[in-house]
Amino acid sequence: MIKVKVPATSANLGPGFDTLGLALNLYNTFSFKEIPKGLEIEGCDNYYANEKNLVYTSMLKTFNKIGYETKGIRIEMDTDIPISRGLGSSAACILGGVMGANELAKASLSKDEILEIATEIEGHPDNIAPALFGGLVVSVMEDKNIYYNKIDIASEIKFVALIPDFTLSTTKSREVLPSTFNNKDAIYNIGRVSLLLSALSNGRFDLLKISLRDKVHQPYRKKLIPKVDEILNKCYELGSLGVYLSGAGPTIMAIVKKDDMNFTKRIKDYLNSINYNWNVKELDLD
Ligand code: HSE
Repeated sequence: MIKVKVPATSANLGPGFDTLGLALNLYNTFSFKEIPKGLEIEGCDNYYANEKNLVYTSMLKTFNKIGYETKGIRIEMDTDIPISRGLGSSAACILGGVMGANELAKASLSKDEILEIATEIEGHPDNIAPALFGGLVVSVMEDKNIYYNKIDIASEIKFVALIPDFTLSTTKSREVLPSTFNNKDAIYNIGRVSLLLSALSNGRFDLLKISLRDKVHQPYRKKLIPKVDEILNKCYELGSLGVYLSGAGPTIMAIVKKDDMNFTKRIKDYLNSINYNWNVKELDLD
């Protein structure tokens, strides 16, 4: 049996839409085996246990690219990354499938080739790249080529994910975005994403709040998450250094000092007080 473990990811980090992403210590593990025929999938809802399964379709695309034929596949899934919550569950499934196929076929694809295949399936690299390389990764696509760089960030912070009890599909969350932006908004984001990367690398946490603002996706997506502004403000009130919508949402990610022992309990109490039965998870960089 071949095993592949893929981390959750939190993309965008405010202004870095489709460009920034970081890997977190929450994982999906996939096990693969060739069988004489057909498809067996275990460990996920019946709804996903069929030929449309993203892990499986990603495997098939990879087999196709490398010219490998298989008679049948058994996939066992052990998943901790919640689905459609903005924590990179699709990227994890895609990467799991591509890496699994690579190992089953003994194809020796390089990490760059894996990145390319997985990004082609996902459409943008900002979840795939950190899931593959770990840590915070900047990635851009140009003419189907992907350019990326992993950046070391200050180690004194942790991430607290406020995970809603409802799902939000990336498709729906992208549909609310405008197709063009004015130059003021573009410049606003360029400035903030630059400030954000500098602040994360040298530990200028006082700059995070202003750096995490953006005019490209969060303002449009906020309407899909009831009370989001109230929750963001509360996170700051309770001591978070910075708060942003994780990926396409609906998870809200708070950046907190590692030695802040109270934030998580206090934000949980607050969510309970407004009858939001959300899962609150403390995470570290993978
Ligand atoms: N950058 C993507 C988005 C991440 O915000 O739509 C979610 O897949």
